[in-house]
Amino acid sequence: MPSGLSVLALLAGVVTPTIARNVVIPRQEAQSSSSSSDATIPFSALSSALASLGPAVTTFRSNSSSSSSTADPSATFTSTTASSTSEVSGRSSSTTRSDATASTTTAGKGPQSDCSTTTDLGWIPSGLPTPTLLPTTNANAINATRTGPLGNHNGGVDLGSDYSSQALDKFWDDWVSELGTSVTKYHRKKVGDVQQPPFREVYCPPQPYPLPEDPPALFPDYLMTSPPENVLTQYKFPDGFLFGWATAAQQWEGAVRDDGKGPTVWDWAARFPGFIVDNTTSDIARLAALGGNVYSFSAFWTRVLPWGSAESPVNQAGIDFYRNLAEYCWSQGVEPVLTLFHWDTPLALQLKYGGFASEDIIDDYVNYAETMFTAYNGTIKKWVTFNEPVVFCSQSTFPGNLTSLYYPYTCSYHLTLAHAKAVRRFRELNIQGEIAFKSDNFIGVPWREGNEDDQRGVDRHEAYQIGIFAEPIYNSGDWPQIIKDDLPPEILPRFTDEQKELIKGTADFFAIDGYRVGYVTAPPAGFEACIANTSDPLWPVCNQVNFYESTPYAWGLADFADPRVPWLQNTWRYIRGFLKDLTQRYPTNGGIYLSEFGFAEPEENEQAYKYIVTTDTKRELYFLSYLGEVLKAIHEDGTDVRGTFAWSLVDK
Ligand SMILES: *[C@@H]1O[C@H](CO)[C@@H](O)[C@H](O)[C@H]1NC(C)=O
Ligand SMILES: *[C@@H]1O[C@H](CO)[C@@H](O)[C@H](O)[C@H]1NC(C)=O
Ligand SMILES: *[C@@H]1O[C@H](CO)[C@@H](O)[C@H](O)[C@H]1NC(C)=O
Ligand SMILES: *[C@@H]1O[C@H](CO)[C@@H](O)[C@H](O)[C@H]1NC(C)=O
Ligand SMILES: *[C@@H]1O[C@H](CO)[C@@H](O)[C@H](O)[C@H]1NC(C)=O
Ligand SMILES: *[C@@H]1O[C@H](CO)[C@@H](O)[C@H](O)[C@H]1NC(C)=O
Repeated sequence: MPSGLSVLALLAGVVTPTIARNVVIPRQEAQSSSSSSDATIPFSALSSALASLGPAVTTFRSNSSSSSSTADPSATFTSTTASSTSEVSGRSSSTTRSDATASTTTAGKGPQSDCSTTTDLGWIPSGLPTPTLLPTTNANAINATRTGPLGNHNGGVDLGSDYSSQALDKFWDDWVSELGTSVTKYHRKKVGDVQQPPFREVYCPPQPYPLPEDPPALFPDYLMTSPPENVLTQYKFPDGFLFGWATAAQQWEGAVRDDGKGPTVWDWAARFPGFIVDNTTSDIARLAALGGNVYSFSAFWTRVLPWGSAESPVNQAGIDFYRNLAEYCWSQGVEPVLTLFHWDTPLALQLKYGGFASEDIIDDYVNYAETMFTAYNGTIKKWVTFNEPVVFCSQSTFPGNLTSLYYPYTCSYHLTLAHAKAVRRFRELNIQGEIAFKSDNFIGVPWREGNEDDQRGVDRHEAYQIGIFAEPIYNSGDWPQIIKDDLPPEILPRFTDEQKELIKGTADFFAIDGYRVGYVTAPPAGFEACIANTSDPLWPVCNQVNFYESTPYAWGLADFADPRVPWLQNTWRYIRGFLKDLTQRYPTNGGIYLSEFGFAEPEENEQAYKYIVTTDTKRELYFLSYLGEVLKAIHEDGTDVRGTFAWSLVDK
């Protein structure tokens, strides 16, 4: 049960009226190595930073400089002020295009000389938001992705080997269509009107980056058991601890059809014009100002290889874009972490051979990975091959002749081999740094303590949700025994001995996206009946997840976030045991990272009053309790946690 005392102690960190106003958390200088000796972030500073976090995006009011200044949209980033940034532009200039050219054709450049011209910082302007319901998923669109050209064909669409910009334009026009219209329009409707970003230049954020004023206290002093400076004071994050935020390319990059980028399956399935708030790279400066020292982002495969395949040309503008982003991060004292694949399969490869349904994806992925390794050797020091492969393989579009019975396992097989081969190349090429993939989900808690069926349910949950990739990569080179016992080789292709050797040991650290937890019990039909019945809705995992205890009181397992995102819970009671269990199951020398975690304030979107939106109580409580438990995992359990990445830095 939760201890009221510790909750209140943590709460004290949230509601303190004593936080210094406009606190700026001192941050590290740009480091050439990730193992810095002065990266300790005191928990009280963390409390202050986090207490500012929610309101930070909504209540900033200092806008005095904006009315008098005029931002120059033609400004470029060729001049620099700090020595660290000179070094950055020095390295940038070794690319094939000149800085001046680059600045007129890509967003996300390094800092410009005169930072005083920055105006609007991107906080929500004053005034009440108009309450609107969140858009719900368009049923037509979902059906169309299943029954449209991608859902029905078995690959075999030959786009030829004309890789000219005219051919790329034609590819976009022929295959990327509008969302939200009738199903029939999905079939090769010519649109050609992919939204362009509303700007081409990026303004420089102010330094030091201003943080918002503190919110007023939410609770009276007598509800606090100790002042915030006394909360968990004995614990500091260790040297080199990575504390920051994460995003995926599809979430924020504005260049949908720009800079020579090719379409991905996401461009095809849904129109997603991205944006960067207020034309600045402030998001990274804001991250740094809040005390973050790491930023994790994904790259679009098609921004670097518009056609995806190994024989197709590299798009230099894409290579330059991610280099600029990474170098700008370093210039802010923020380490960039790059994920190669966050589910954005190149559309050309989906059409050609069905994406991850085909073994052809392996060499094409490895070629893409090698292109990136070589381009950012020494600039990126932490790499992620695949984001949440279980989710990707169970949800992505599959060719018509691979039903949902086969596709997830065909995909898992090819994806594991692609990961392993890419990591082998990484090591052969002596790329400087570490590499792994990101797992998700949870191990689970037996619904009834000591009950064998429930424990079996937990073991099955772990095997299918985490072990399916972690077991081969961290331990044996082979699928978990539980899954091999369930699924014949026609469904789950088996690895050869040679492949097992290839796969085993291809990760330097463990990364888990830790959002939720559930109690697990046997399926209603029983294990054996469910495992034998591919029509059972719980097949093949064959267990049942409950979110409440088995006692008559049926207490919930964790506090839930907004009901529209049921996969988010405040799992502070679970996280320590979870981290410890994972490090025992999948040992590495590189420690464990919480590569994503986060929470959504319930009904935030429906609130009509700004003060309700900015109060953000549950989210603040989430960050403090969850991160407080992570500190305890490090100091009381000896778990080798090396970093936390809040999801996400921007809206999704
Ligand atoms: C800041 O000032 C500019 C110019 O006066 C105005 O357009 C903008 O809306 C202001 N931003 C905020 C957050 O008030
Ligand atoms: C989508 O497909 C499902 C299942 O085939 C069907 O029941 C539903 O009516 C379809 N929805 C639309 C909007 O066509
Ligand atoms: C599906 O079709 C593709 C392309 O025609 C073929 O290569 C593949 O073997 C087929 N898969 C199955 C399971 O029939
Ligand atoms: C962003 O830049 C564009 C083009 O330079 C400009 O029209 C727009 O007003 C800018 N937006 C903000 C919020 O500064
Ligand atoms: C990566 O950098 C290391 C150290 O400088 C070097 O030994 C290696 O050859 C580089 N690899 C590639 C592919 O550039
Ligand atoms: C398999 O599961 C389906 C769906 O629950 C059910 O209708 C069917 O009766 C089950 N078959 C057997 C043999 O139990």
